[in-house]
Amino acid sequence: MATESRVTEIPAIKILAVSGSMRTDSKGRYALEATLNAAQSHGAHTQMLDLCALDLPMFRPGSRSEDAGVHQVIEAVQWADAFILGTPDYHGSMSGAMKNFLDYHWREFAGKLFAYLCTSHEKGLTAMEQMRTTVRQCYGWSLPYGMSFDSGEAMNANGEIISEALTSRIHMTARDLVVYGSLLKQQFAHDLAAENKDTFAARYRK
Ligand SMILES: Cc1cc2nc3c(=O)[nH]c(=O)nc-3n(C[C@H](O)[C@H](O)[C@H](O)COP(=O)(O)O)c2cc1C
Repeated sequence: MATESRVTEIPAIKILAVSGSMRTDSKGRYALEATLNAAQSHGAHTQMLDLCALDLPMFRPGSRSEDAGVHQVIEAVQWADAFILGTPDYHGSMSGAMKNFLDYHWREFAGKLFAYLCTSHEKGLTAMEQMRTTVRQCYGWSLPYGMSFDSGEAMNANGEIISEALTSRIHMTARDLVVYGSLLKQQFAHDLAAENKDTFAARYRK
């Protein structure tokens, strides 16, 4: 059976992109939008969570927030089957806004697939590695590669991608996120519903 035809048998995957830049003209957000558009062409339903627009309060353990942004984030994360986390490279690390977003979550990430994007003048490897570590700590799965680009080289002033390498990486990521994310979603749901105790999903049964 061809891989592409197998995906069409599974309900459409829901992908949430999270933009961790606090710049209204974030180049990372433009690339995330391009990745979501590519994922839609593979049948995904998509949503963008722009942390710049939300201005999420600093996470405080144990306190219930009435902030509308917090509720929007929680709803969006619960909706999603797979994620693309996008951050600018800040001192070789993810942005504070992205880390603060991640601190709100734990069990919700289990069994779900994550892709990574970093805007960096270097390769963004350490920033993406930190996001990958956080996701692993929450028992999420990660694609084994990331997307990184220097916006001064890969985009024009309007935020349009002019790099073939970035375009190719975006299309590969979108396709892989839909295919592998759908398979993980299906298997995790199957393992949750089964009675076998000898699976990773068993610990998430209610
Ligand atoms: C506080 C701060 C620290 C930064 N540190 C780095 C860095 O270590 N390496 C790097 O390549 N770029 C660094 N940058 C540049 C940003 O990563 C770069 O401007 C990025 O493209 C912005 O992405 P955005 O357009 O999505 O906001 C830093 C920028 C700021 C504001």
